Amino acid sequence: MVRDLKIGKDGKVEFTLALTIPGCPLKNQLEQDARLALMSLPGVKDVKINFSVMSDEERARLFGQSQPNLPKLNQFNKVKRVIAVMSGKGGVGKSSITAALASALARDCHKVGILDADITGPSIPKLFGLPAGGVRGSEQGILPAVTSEGIKAMSTNLLVPNENAAVIWRGPMIAGTIKQFWTDVLWGDLDVLLVDLPPGTSDAALTVMQSLPVNGVVLVSTPQELAGMVVRKADSMLKQLKIPVLAVVENMSYFRCPDCGKPHNIFGPSHVEELAEAVGAVQYVKLPLEPRVAQLGDAGKVGEVEMPELAPI
Ligand SMILES: Nc1ncnc2c1ncn2[C@@H]1O[C@H](COP(=O)(O)OP(=O)(O)O)[C@@H](O)[C@H]1O
Ligand SMILES: [Mg+2]
Repeated sequence: MVRDLKIGKDGKVEFTLALTIPGCPLKNQLEQDARLALMSLPGVKDVKINFSVMSDEERARLFGQSQPNLPKLNQFNKVKRVIAVMSGKGGVGKSSITAALASALARDCHKVGILDADITGPSIPKLFGLPAGGVRGSEQGILPAVTSEGIKAMSTNLLVPNENAAVIWRGPMIAGTIKQFWTDVLWGDLDVLLVDLPPGTSDAALTVMQSLPVNGVVLVSTPQELAGMVVRKADSMLKQLKIPVLAVVENMSYFRCPDCGKPHNIFGPSHVEELAEAVGAVQYVKLPLEPRVAQLGDAGKVGEVEMPELAPI
């Protein structure tokens, strides 16, 4: 979005380009394209571009055009940013990374929520030690569970009578539940709502991207070629939906030997740099294979996992 356009008699053009989000990965591309387009016009001698970020209203107008009929958020909620955590393949660590990111943000005093969009394979409650059936309703909406870190969470495993009860639903029920988690849950004021997606480019992922105002996506992969390939598929879906990739996380990238400190590439050499470039992400992060992550997750204490590598995201 262009603001404050000034055209000087000396051929100098200055304006402000408002980006959708502060770390917009298309910033450099937009700057380059705008500069090239203006410099090719007769009389233009110099171009100065300042940057700022769109307001919530401007962003809503923009997303309103590309995502028609967004379900309305509960009137008691105010969610500043929605970030989805996505991968092509299961078991790469999406849920653990969603939980670790949420915990890091909560430690930094941000108000955080997690919407577990993995309706048939939910893992967020288990990771935080939240009991099944621990959710209550009120006249205003469904009250989310709250973790000991103060993170609000909603997941199908909070609604079923016990954590092993299976949710055997077809696509439309899954899509309906995801939309209800957005519209009917009393999230309150949130700085960030993280959405833990099921693997791949399934119905559920599409529902999230088309029904929630997703500001950006964190793509999770592992060094294996297969994981990289399916991440590219996820990216091609995001390109079609015009949703930016904020960062690529290569999980289980290496294992540091506790005795000699030497890193070992258990799943093969890293491809994260190429992958980040291929999907146009500004940031990439390598996370080690760390037995503590699995142990704390299994013990419902994922909030104690510290992944300083995630700080830039
Ligand atoms: N960096 C890591 N080091 C060790 N184990 C990990 C790591 N990341 C994830 N895990 C383990 O791998 C398994 C799959 O992770 P999960 O977060 O459930 O993946 P996904 O949500 O992509 O299916 C879990 O048992 C988790 O504890
Ligand atoms: Mg998961």
